[in-house]
Amino acid sequence: MSASAIVTGGAGFIGSHVVDALLAQGREVVVIDDLSSGKQERVADAATLEVADISDAAAVDRIFDAVRPEAVFHLGAQASVTASVADPRRDCEVNVAGTLNVLEAARRHGAPVVFTSTGGALYGNDAPLPTGEDRIPAPLAPYGASKWAGESFVSTWSRAHGVAHAICRLGNVYGPRQSPHGEAGVVAIFSLKLWRGEAPVLYGHGRPTRDYVHVEDVVRALLAACGSAGVFNIATGVETDVAALYDELQRAAGVTLEPQLAPLRAGELERSCLDSSRAREEFGWSATVELREGLHATYHALVAEFAASA
Ligand SMILES: NC(=O)c1ccc[n+]([C@@H]2O[C@H](COP(=O)([O-])OP(=O)(O)OC[C@H]3O[C@@H](n4cnc5c(N)ncnc54)[C@H](O)[C@@H]3O)[C@@H](O)[C@H]2O)c1
Repeated sequence: MSASAIVTGGAGFIGSHVVDALLAQGREVVVIDDLSSGKQERVADAATLEVADISDAAAVDRIFDAVRPEAVFHLGAQASVTASVADPRRDCEVNVAGTLNVLEAARRHGAPVVFTSTGGALYGNDAPLPTGEDRIPAPLAPYGASKWAGESFVSTWSRAHGVAHAICRLGNVYGPRQSPHGEAGVVAIFSLKLWRGEAPVLYGHGRPTRDYVHVEDVVRALLAACGSAGVFNIATGVETDVAALYDELQRAAGVTLEPQLAPLRAGELERSCLDSSRAREEFGWSATVELREGLHATYHALVAEFAASA
């Protein structure tokens, strides 16, 4: 039997790409996802989908005991900042207690865990750019706090039980399969607007910057991080403002639409850009997808998805 891996959140945007990459390596893959934001159709037929809530410890234990995984990719999360503000207890239940459940189940099988945290929602507004991992987090919303608390359990379990767990703090991830219906995922949101011929809203008058990293690069990083202990920023180190991003997507779409400008929303960062040199030094990873090329390819892939589901 080939080495098996569990992917929590494997029906989500990033998780479903992780599933595909593991299957391509010949791994057996079991997905744990409650389908709260994930979609069953994103999960490749060759993987097994277990519909379960990671905050249910007994369900997590039952699946881990049946699979006996050799590696765990823990992406399942309450990933909406707005939802975390509206219901911080549920956010904590999933992102903190759910992470503890995954860690405990992985411990019983000696499996290393790769945990996806956030580089964008953790460092706050005063961090020097590009921000390195040693900067003490100063989150602005419960989502950042719960991810940071989850990280703390991951690193403590790694030290206490002698298994190399990796924490990957992702930049703003974009790529095929990203939902245009969330509050984040600005590439998918703008793509849908441009495809429909509707003007999008540029919050912060288009000035806020982010570090946009393609999902293919992120998946390579998560697989490469498996077995390394520590905290790693996974991003490009390139700071791009929202207006420039929108301009490039307009070029990809071959459409020009005057956007609406609005002030920054509460809890949103003004600038974000991450230093990923530790990931390069530790496991030889760096981003390879250039933003212009990644945006054009993503726009066309997303439009094909919109058309197929219209
Ligand atoms: N997209 C980004 O830019 C970004 C940036 C930083 C970190 N992250 C992190 O990466 C991970 C994946 O994010 P994504 O963008 O693919 O989001 P997503 O919402 O598409 O994926 C999250 C998945 O987790 C599942 N899930 C949610 N609650 C669950 C629960 N209680 N039990 C089981 N499954 C549950 C959802 O159904 C979904 O399939 C998350 O941990 C997120 O916090 C994402």
